[in-house]
Amino acid sequence: MQYRKVNGIFALVALLLFFKTSDAGNVVVCKDIKDCKTCAESYIHILGFREDCRWCLESNSCGGPISCPAGKPVIQKDPFKCPTPYTPTAGKRYTDALGRSLFAVSVAVRDSNVTECLRNSRPDISYVQAYEVECDGSGNLCKGLIAKSEEAKALYVAYKGSTFGKQVFAEMLHGLTAQLGAWEKFESENAGVINYFHTAFYRLFIDSGMKEDLIDLMKKHRNYRVWLTGHSLGGSLASMTALHLVKSKSIDRNRVRLITFGEPRTGNIAYAKEIESNIPFRYRVIKRHDPVPNMPAPMNPALLTAAQYNKQPMHWRYLVYYDNNMAKGEGFRVCDVADDLGCRNPALSNFGDHTTYFQIDQDDFVRNHCPRSELI
Ligand SMILES: *[C@@H]1O[C@H](CO)[C@@H](O)[C@H](O)[C@H]1NC(C)=O
Repeated sequence: MQYRKVNGIFALVALLLFFKTSDAGNVVVCKDIKDCKTCAESYIHILGFREDCRWCLESNSCGGPISCPAGKPVIQKDPFKCPTPYTPTAGKRYTDALGRSLFAVSVAVRDSNVTECLRNSRPDISYVQAYEVECDGSGNLCKGLIAKSEEAKALYVAYKGSTFGKQVFAEMLHGLTAQLGAWEKFESENAGVINYFHTAFYRLFIDSGMKEDLIDLMKKHRNYRVWLTGHSLGGSLASMTALHLVKSKSIDRNRVRLITFGEPRTGNIAYAKEIESNIPFRYRVIKRHDPVPNMPAPMNPALLTAAQYNKQPMHWRYLVYYDNNMAKGEGFRVCDVADDLGCRNPALSNFGDHTTYFQIDQDDFVRNHCPRSELI
């Protein structure tokens, strides 16, 4: 048995993994392993076939292929999936009030009169500029806005969710599942995002001038935090914007605040890793049985080769999970496991949960000029 506990920078880890002999993770029995990370790096041979050791989340124990009750979450192949303790420092916690006030900004993008909407829902925020482009070959429009609050010393970037009907959106995401593996490279060698989001991001954030305007504004307000938010497709664009700004050194990572709502699996495993290592303040809010965050769906890791494994879609931490209707006063939990394993049941789906975050019907809310009393 030989394990190596590797602490230190990622590059070093990558280097060591590269030079590991092929037997480095080979163990005789899985069940002697006491921690998730070592378990997820280890494997045994059964009749000459390599079998990953699996960490059973429910029993907190390591075992072979049948070590965990059927249907219970297991972690294998990659220690990244192991629980990462949620330990935010003061002022960096997610709160329900924070979620609601950001959601107000994310809904305001839908209003043709953003100024009026924000005046009612977030009177401290003033609208700066909106950007709208055709984001695909089918004439669908994508929209984003920049706003600022002197009171909160904050800039806001918010993206609109998709306007496609529920059917079309669901079909689109299912269709994407079929093309898994065809990730568009994004911000690092291995990180990739869904092609649709990649195109939308470049057209909307880069080509429309939105990035330039934001950078000018960040220069004028060097001590302001930059909040990035959006619902659904808008959540994907917000997370990509956060990563792009940090990786291009346009912003100090500690100024970034990322909160998305009902975000699908935007990218592959390397993308999730990049988000986690570059964006310290990040929350992905999901309502009960919202099906969109389950798309595109990953395959069962037990059936994957290593090469396929790296092409699977994966969520970044931290999930903020509301297992309720998100009425005022209802609680949430923060999940510390990658891809939400064991924190919510992706088999359950109700599209109504996607469109009613915080009990707000976005179209009605905008039609009623964004009444603050409904949200906060
Ligand atoms: C937006 O609403 C405000 C206040 O209700 C109004 O004064 C303004 O003219 C509107 N802007 C547009 C472009 O309709």
